[in-house]
Amino acid sequence: MPQHDAVEVITAKRDRGELSDSQIDWVIDAYTRGAVDDAQMSALAMAILLNGMNRREISRWTDAMIASGERMDFSTLSRPTADKHSTGGVGDKITLPLAPLVAACGVAVPQLSGRGLGHTGGTLDKLESIPGWRAALTNEEMFAQLESVGAVICAAGDGLAPADKKLYALRDVTATVEAIPLIASSIMSKKIAEGTGSLVLDVKVGTGAFMKDVDRARELATTMVELGTDAGVRTVALLTDMSTPLGRTAGNAIEVAESVEVLAGGGPADVVELTLALAREMLAGAGVTDVDPADKLADGSAMDVWRAMVRAQDGDPDAPMREAREQHVVGAPASGVLTRLDAMAVGMAAWRLGAGRAKAGDAVQDGAGVVWHARPGDKVAEGEPLFTLLTDEPERFERALASLEGGYDIDADNAAYDPTPLVIDRIG
Ligand code: URA
Repeated sequence: MPQHDAVEVITAKRDRGELSDSQIDWVIDAYTRGAVDDAQMSALAMAILLNGMNRREISRWTDAMIASGERMDFSTLSRPTADKHSTGGVGDKITLPLAPLVAACGVAVPQLSGRGLGHTGGTLDKLESIPGWRAALTNEEMFAQLESVGAVICAAGDGLAPADKKLYALRDVTATVEAIPLIASSIMSKKIAEGTGSLVLDVKVGTGAFMKDVDRARELATTMVELGTDAGVRTVALLTDMSTPLGRTAGNAIEVAESVEVLAGGGPADVVELTLALAREMLAGAGVTDVDPADKLADGSAMDVWRAMVRAQDGDPDAPMREAREQHVVGAPASGVLTRLDAMAVGMAAWRLGAGRAKAGDAVQDGAGVVWHARPGDKVAEGEPLFTLLTDEPERFERALASLEGGYDIDADNAAYDPTPLVIDRIG
């Protein structure tokens, strides 16, 4: 590999230049090996945040991060593969019904997931609230489960894009998370290394999302779709609303219970709508166009895959879900129509109740979270339950209540409510 030095690479980007392929390959490799130190990589990340990267640079940067670790290959499986990635939101339990649903339609779903940090929940945290369920699988176990059950949701091993792991931790403490080239390459390096044949991105927009405005969300989605396409992965993105939390619950065990309701053919309408929209995109990406996923929710076959998926990872799908020891009900302060329910406020409340963690490695409470008894557009009556807060530690209620303050509006005049569409745009 040609030799460069860190100061030369940082200077090029600081002065708004384009990084060459060999500069990118070198700097990612040298950083992973420790030959470029954190101070130098911080300066480069900030230069990228301020001055951007073009499509070639982002694509090469992504390839270099993939090359820092192992690459999985599911091409010998007997069925096509599809995965989805959500940029993260409040009450976003969609992966739980989606993976078994898509598998029930004949497409294998290899889903490597993470744990939550901050106000957005992590899929593994939710699944770990199922008694016995195990997140860590070997590559061989993952492959075998994909062949036998059709869907697997498990923890990403350390071997996948280790350069990203190191760089993401650094960005977190240097105010450089928000750079679109760095977010896009971070997400896509892991998804491409994971070896899926097709990918659907759920890019969230709104108060509860990473991307607060639709233009930046569209730019991120377009960049990720281009990266996937350049790497030979059929990729599309949906921009979806995250100004309101999804469904009626945010937490761990309570989100699993809501997902099971969807798999049983019920569940909140928005969760069903998004699950079906993403399932249709995943099936189309995998070349399956003759199956309607709605039928697989209705006939119980998605539920059968869910149960097999949980069992294959030592979970008991029939075990009662753990419940929080304490609850606090918040009544509606007035009668009228709920016209706004802020995703960030609800996410913060769930987090403060113990459903999420403040720093990597903290434990989460299985039973903690927030249930909201009305969604925007619903009528509420003064004094009737609006929220139920759940936690094992009642001293957490006060801070959770503070985060809900100002987080919703009730229009006493029963004004007509104009809903935001859940799926805002499609890119790809
Ligand atoms: N998720 C990731 O994996 N990486 C980012 O940079 C942001 C969100």
